[in-house]
Amino acid sequence: MRHEHGGNIYAKKCDIDFSSNINPLGMSENIKKAFINSFDMSVFYPDPECTELRKKLSLKEKVDFDNIICSNGAAELIFAICFALKPKKALLASPCFAEYEQALNACGCNIERYVLKEENNFSFDDGFLNKITNDIDIVFFTNPNNPTGVLANAEFVEKLANRCLKTNTIIVFDECFLDFVLNGENCSAKRFLSNKNIIILKAFTKFYAMPGIRLGYGLFADYNTALKVRSAMQTWSVSTPAQMAGIAALDDEKEYERTVEYIENEKKYIISHISNLAYKVFGHSANFIFFKEIKDFDKKMLEKGILIRSCKNYYSLDGSFYRIAVKSRDCNEKLIQAWTEVKRG
Ligand SMILES: Cc1ncc(COP(=O)(O)O)c(C=O)c1O
Repeated sequence: MRHEHGGNIYAKKCDIDFSSNINPLGMSENIKKAFINSFDMSVFYPDPECTELRKKLSLKEKVDFDNIICSNGAAELIFAICFALKPKKALLASPCFAEYEQALNACGCNIERYVLKEENNFSFDDGFLNKITNDIDIVFFTNPNNPTGVLANAEFVEKLANRCLKTNTIIVFDECFLDFVLNGENCSAKRFLSNKNIIILKAFTKFYAMPGIRLGYGLFADYNTALKVRSAMQTWSVSTPAQMAGIAALDDEKEYERTVEYIENEKKYIISHISNLAYKVFGHSANFIFFKEIKDFDKKMLEKGILIRSCKNYYSLDGSFYRIAVKSRDCNEKLIQAWTEVKRG
């Protein structure tokens, strides 16, 4: 596989996986039950319209039922958007989530990059906006960004939405990690959904801890764009177990209410211990931490059973950047223990 991601516990055996950023509260009992109960219904084809799930999402997100598309993980939508809209030129910030590049390459789109600078702590600036010109057909923008953990504030999101409106550029706001951010809703692009060129991507994957089930969705400002994208997807891409697990997740929001507070506490705990160990800690606005460490730090941690994400295969990053998830206290203690041992040598 050309694009290596975190979470590949099949290729890299470990005791604890810190390389994928999944809610440490785990999958709720009701989601598990719904998944198991869905087996009886699985002798039938899934509902191709994901009717019940989209009705619930429409209430939660306050977006029209017809403007929501459910998908086999958010990743499927990234590909469907590219294949349906056939952009000729795209703009990506670097580093960013690798599937954008993969999908854009697969549909023959040229990619312009705006390299985020280490000396600016990988923050977004007006230079990115200036790169959005009339010939840019699509921008993928992750907020907060992965792997850097940097959050673009409400003001920047507004500038970005306005700029793309002016240049008639499709802007995909990938908000798959925004639910983990304290007061993150203030930075959502949802308030600009009256701009026809906006698509917002979201996933059940991380927040409801169900990456193996595969469920994501898109909020489309424009109904015709939604139709086009849907027609580039196979009819039954969201399985019955995924639809039923998703419905249960939305019924179970209370179980997840303490997520942000939990993550904030654990993040503080980890950072207070690693700030003396790591070369530098960068962004951590979501449920993961981006940092700089010694060469082969990932290999040394894996020898101790801890799988972390080396970021060396991201465009514009070298082998000194890494990312870890924020997990439960007992896992985080083991992380710090292993880290301390590695640095002691
Ligand atoms: C920013 C971002 N968007 C989308 C995805 C894909 O999510 P899913 O697993 O729901 O396909 C990921 C997965 O890591 C991601 O990091």
